[in-house]
Amino acid sequence: MRILVVGSGGREHALGWALAQSDTALCFAPGNAGTAALGRNVAIGATDIPALAAFVRQESMDLTVVGPEIPLVAGIADAFAAARLPVMGPTAAASEIEGSKAFAKSFMARRGIPTADFRVFTADTYDAARQYVQDQGAPIVIKASGLAAGKGAIVCTTEEEALAALERTLQARDFGDAGAEVVVEAYMEGEEASVFAFTDGDDYVCLSPAQDHKRIGEHDTGPNTGGMGAYAPAPVVDAALLQRVRADIIEPTLEGLASEGRLYRGCLYVGLMVTGDGPKVVEFNCRLGDPEAQVVLPLLDVDAAELMLAVTDGRLGRLRVDLASDAALCVVLASRGYPGPYTRGYAISGLEAASEEALVFHAGTAHNDKGEAVTAGGRVLGVTGRGPTLEAALAKAYAAANCITFEGAVMRRDIGQKGLERMKL
Ligand code: GLY
Repeated sequence: MRILVVGSGGREHALGWALAQSDTALCFAPGNAGTAALGRNVAIGATDIPALAAFVRQESMDLTVVGPEIPLVAGIADAFAAARLPVMGPTAAASEIEGSKAFAKSFMARRGIPTADFRVFTADTYDAARQYVQDQGAPIVIKASGLAAGKGAIVCTTEEEALAALERTLQARDFGDAGAEVVVEAYMEGEEASVFAFTDGDDYVCLSPAQDHKRIGEHDTGPNTGGMGAYAPAPVVDAALLQRVRADIIEPTLEGLASEGRLYRGCLYVGLMVTGDGPKVVEFNCRLGDPEAQVVLPLLDVDAAELMLAVTDGRLGRLRVDLASDAALCVVLASRGYPGPYTRGYAISGLEAASEEALVFHAGTAHNDKGEAVTAGGRVLGVTGRGPTLEAALAKAYAAANCITFEGAVMRRDIGQKGLERMKL
């Protein structure tokens, strides 16, 4: 099967790795230094939908798998469907669940899906937004409604911070048009987790629940990043809790989207807060998470190409999907300075030794003129260990990550600790 994977991060390398376990010929647009070892990288940007469609038609690809949210929100699934090109990813209308937090929150409110209380404001209702923040008090969360590369949610511990966040988002437009609307949301206390469901619009299957580590610093300190590591299964989502997530969140969400004519064929990402009052939705995303993809895909015990084709063709109900009983843990190696400014172009060594112990997924990497892998992004690599227990997966991931060096490499040393602590309870 000839498959195009759209995107260039660790998630897309992990998708490629999973698809490469089957009899596939892979292309990546645009890919990275790691995906080049699995197939052919083509120099087409992930958001250039006409060029992607032309490539798929010219190369007679059997399936396109879309990694990132921007092309999904921009309508790649609709454009491909109109051109009769098979694509795994939700339509633009369904992707609005990530593309507009204002839409997602209103959708949850009308469907009775548990989430934090909220109000939506625009620049025209700026004064009302300030008044609402003052009435509610802190802690409180200010979120740019549109896509803001994971940076648009500001958790404010004081009223002053919240008013400043409103000003930066609605007035100064720090997040551009993504901040034309804001969601002001009650702060939720609890532990976060990520649950992923592959769906063909009717049926769905859940992957192993995962936990991301969003802050740059150990013990969840410092600014938010795209994610500094993940593990699965996350014990905070036990079987009983997962059942509640399915019944109270995933099923009403999929039914609601379908009944509103928003066709969802892809991966639904439920960002959860596990509160004392049960699981509540922090956010929905219309795609796999990153780095979570780097742990949930290696735990899939099914032919990934078959699975993704079944999602695309609406045949998921006829496919048996098993999950491995193992655990997986991914630690991200990042460039010093990330998520702020950082330097690129440093040579990476130790990749071969690391690959003997673990899966090494490339994110921000490229080849230099000599064909050597060099750093080319904030998150450079994700190193995934797999084992019968979380401890075993963790030991493998860190043993492998310790083999890799590049100038200014940073990693969190506490990935998975929350899971280990919880298992002792
Ligand atoms: N790991 C967070 C995200 O993919 O959005």
